[in-house]
Amino acid sequence: MVEVKNLCKKFVTPMGIVTALHNVSFTVAEGEVFGIMGASGAGKSTLVRCLNYLERPTSGEVYIDGQNLAELNSRQLALTRQQIGMIFQHFNLLKLRTVAQNIAFPLEIAGTPKKEIQQRVNELLDMVGLTDKAQSYPHQLSGGQKQRVGIARALACRPRLLLSDESTSALDPETTQSILALLKEINLSLGVTIILITHELAVIRQICDRVAVLENGQLVETGSVADVFNRPHAAATQRLITTSGLVSAARPKPVAVRPALATGEVI
Ligand SMILES: Nc1ncnc2c1ncn2[C@@H]1O[C@H](COP(=O)(O)OP(=O)(O)OP(=O)(O)O)[C@@H](O)[C@H]1O
Ligand SMILES: [Mg+2]
Repeated sequence: MVEVKNLCKKFVTPMGIVTALHNVSFTVAEGEVFGIMGASGAGKSTLVRCLNYLERPTSGEVYIDGQNLAELNSRQLALTRQQIGMIFQHFNLLKLRTVAQNIAFPLEIAGTPKKEIQQRVNELLDMVGLTDKAQSYPHQLSGGQKQRVGIARALACRPRLLLSDESTSALDPETTQSILALLKEINLSLGVTIILITHELAVIRQICDRVAVLENGQLVETGSVADVFNRPHAAATQRLITTSGLVSAARPKPVAVRPALATGEVI
């Protein structure tokens, strides 16, 4: 469903040209949870921003369901973006809007009728276990609850692809587990494809099917999580695994997933 071909991104800065991505190519199949890992500055956020053209690639192509994003006009691009949800490390919630209003925001932009918005927001609140927080403001929520709002908002327009840029990196380990369980449940029950970017290797090992490794803007390794973690080829992958402390080759217990999505507690 996602195909990236020879993607390059250069930034022109007063200090000179920064090559953030160099000839990156990979594909993500429908329904996959695909991880992208790499050290700080490797180009992970730049890559994820190129996937929905928040950042225009300098060269190379991004195809979503076979459609080259470069060929879309701005209206078509806006429609395609509605099919791509995104969640962030620092949640990016609107401070002056309640939880319900934050979740409603993309639906308002999409021109959804008011009554439908209300119904959809209620469904989403239930899905992420925050029905009782509908009228709260972001500053009244814990980090995990804020990320649940971010997830609900990202899913509002029923996207088929969810991009996650370090969505658990600001959370404690227990809250991380509950958010990972929610993401996995969304993947399994709604069939949403997830591209998950993180510097936390444990996160990748827990919920990803396949993983790509970025180093200095180049994709140095791609494979199944089991292969990459058990038999890393690239020196960069070996370094990441060593420094993360994940020395055991065995795959850890997968995150617990409850049959119902409606849980605000730690699983
Ligand atoms: N808007 C920009 N202008 C200039 N350089 C940029 C810009 N955005 C990113 N870069 C540079 O591109 C490189 C990759 O940055 P990026 O934010 O993609 O890394 P990252 O892997 O997400 O790092 P982190 O793990 O710290 O979030 C870095 O050298 C960064 O300084
Ligand atoms: Mg980043």
